[in-house]
Amino acid sequence: MEHYRAVIKVTFVGAGSIEFTRNVVTDLCSYPEFRGGLHLALYDISAGRLAHAERLAQRIAAQTGADATVSATRDRREALDGARYVINEVQVGGYDATRADFDIPARYGVRQTIGDTLGIGGIFRGLRTIPVTTALARDMHDVCPDAYLLSYSNPMAMLPWSVYEGTPFTRVYGLCHSVRDTQDFGPGPVPDRWVQPPGVRAAVRAGWPVPLPAAG
Ligand SMILES: NC(=O)c1ccc[n+]([C@@H]2O[C@H](COP(=O)([O-])OP(=O)(O)OC[C@H]3O[C@@H](n4cnc5c(N)ncnc54)[C@H](O)[C@@H]3O)[C@@H](O)[C@H]2O)c1
Repeated sequence: MEHYRAVIKVTFVGAGSIEFTRNVVTDLCSYPEFRGGLHLALYDISAGRLAHAERLAQRIAAQTGADATVSATRDRREALDGARYVINEVQVGGYDATRADFDIPARYGVRQTIGDTLGIGGIFRGLRTIPVTTALARDMHDVCPDAYLLSYSNPMAMLPWSVYEGTPFTRVYGLCHSVRDTQDFGPGPVPDRWVQPPGVRAAVRAGWPVPLPAAG
């Protein structure tokens, strides 16, 4: 008797991301449980970055033996169709916009070390990224309403907030690897009641550890 297993479609939005695509694809492909059961759907507005991401994902899928299907498109709704999970890793405006986030405030005496999450740099980034993120969420509401939107993009807190406030779609979580890494620099063990999520780090919505009820 043959057994059929549903294929899990994971869509990468901004798949040309240097920070995330390689790591997340490698992580997913490393699970034996997913072998033969993954569809990695790549979407980006840049044809060059998309082609690079496609070659990379195909190579990782082959080298890990994940037997994953890899597809690439510049049509967002096509990429979302049938998705179970959507990873948002866009950086709207790229390097030039990020330079402006620093240079314009600096002209008025505001110097920033990081300008992608909060402060004036974060607000600039939010102004250009919120419309893209809410449009993505509206497409998900139409095309894959049961999928989860896992958003790595900055500004971290503003983007899931904008989805909650501005769209009918609510299955959105903001993820931040800095939460996990920062706690390692703390003075001691993190109290039990702070989030210690397995695998995916739940800097949910707030972009920072979320207090949980004490374990009962
Ligand atoms: N959550 C975290 O822990 C964390 C850590 C580092 C970076 N980030 C954030 O992750 C995001 C990605 O960072 P990166 O350095 O990999 O960026 P990157 O510039 O390498 O890649 C971003 C990709 O987004 C694409 N893109 C831009 N606008 C798009 C749109 N409208 N639709 C689809 N694709 C679009 C670009 O073509 C590019 O390929 C940024 O927002 C960054 O601030 C988050």
